Amino acid sequence: MKEMIKMRHIHTVFGKKTVHEDVNLTVHEGEIYGILGGSGSGKTTLLREMIMLLRPSKGVVEVLGHDLGKIGYKEAQSLRSRWGVLFQFGALFTSLTVEENVAVWLKEYTSLSDTTIRQIVRSKLKMVGLDPEVGRLYPSELSGGMVKRCALARALVMDPKLLFLDEPTSGLDPVSAEAFDELITQLRSLLGLTIVMVTHDIDTIFNVVDKMAVLGDGRVVAEGSLEEILKSDHPFIRRFFGGNRAKARIEAMKMEAS
Ligand SMILES: Nc1ncnc2c1ncn2[C@@H]1O[C@H](COP(=O)(O)OP(=O)(O)O)[C@@H](O)[C@H]1O
Ligand SMILES: [Mg+2]
Repeated sequence: MKEMIKMRHIHTVFGKKTVHEDVNLTVHEGEIYGILGGSGSGKTTLLREMIMLLRPSKGVVEVLGHDLGKIGYKEAQSLRSRWGVLFQFGALFTSLTVEENVAVWLKEYTSLSDTTIRQIVRSKLKMVGLDPEVGRLYPSELSGGMVKRCALARALVMDPKLLFLDEPTSGLDPVSAEAFDELITQLRSLLGLTIVMVTHDIDTIFNVVDKMAVLGDGRVVAEGSLEEILKSDHPFIRRFFGGNRAKARIEAMKMEAS
């Protein structure tokens, strides 16, 4: 399987604080790859290093075959147009309509006509399950779930093969979160996406994620499928999957398997 992202011996230091000691991970084509870990374990920082918002203090990051430490300005620009990003906070520009929000990258990176841009925006809104009429509204007029969907439409507007999501279901009620998870899974198959997702959400981990890396003590303490992760004795993993909700899911999984 094709390697889409490779991180090798990543060290990240902020002042006196070491966030990553020696992080190694590989994301393959077509995977929904989860990044788990306690609050402050460096998940978002890792994501920022994958999308060139931050350079690690040491180590190599390769995305779509490009060594991010060695590429020039033009190569970096073209690479940026090949992935989409959905951040945890500040998902949309509040002073722009939904349509203008979703169109932002098309205006930045292409010379398409306004009519074509409008058509693309409408099709992306439909793709994420929104009525294209929503395009005329402002973010403040939308529900939390709709805001996330608009942000997703914006992330997909350049038809990327790679999608980065930072805690996409945080702040959503359980029903909206489950609907969003379902949408992500459908779009992965439909669009042939590879997805890297930072998440805390037990339901997302059980329903959506194929493979994951668990960060702890500045390293990846376990990498693999859910079954593989659950075999680990690492205290964070024991604690994280030791809660009642996770326990119930693990029991259900065992029942299904037997
Ligand atoms: N730009 C920065 N400058 C200084 N410290 C930072 C910076 N970005 C993140 N950190 C620190 O690095 C640690 C990891 O942060 P982050 O990656 O956001 O964690 P997570 O997403 O796992 O909760 C935190 O202690 C945070 O305060
Ligand atoms: Mg974070």
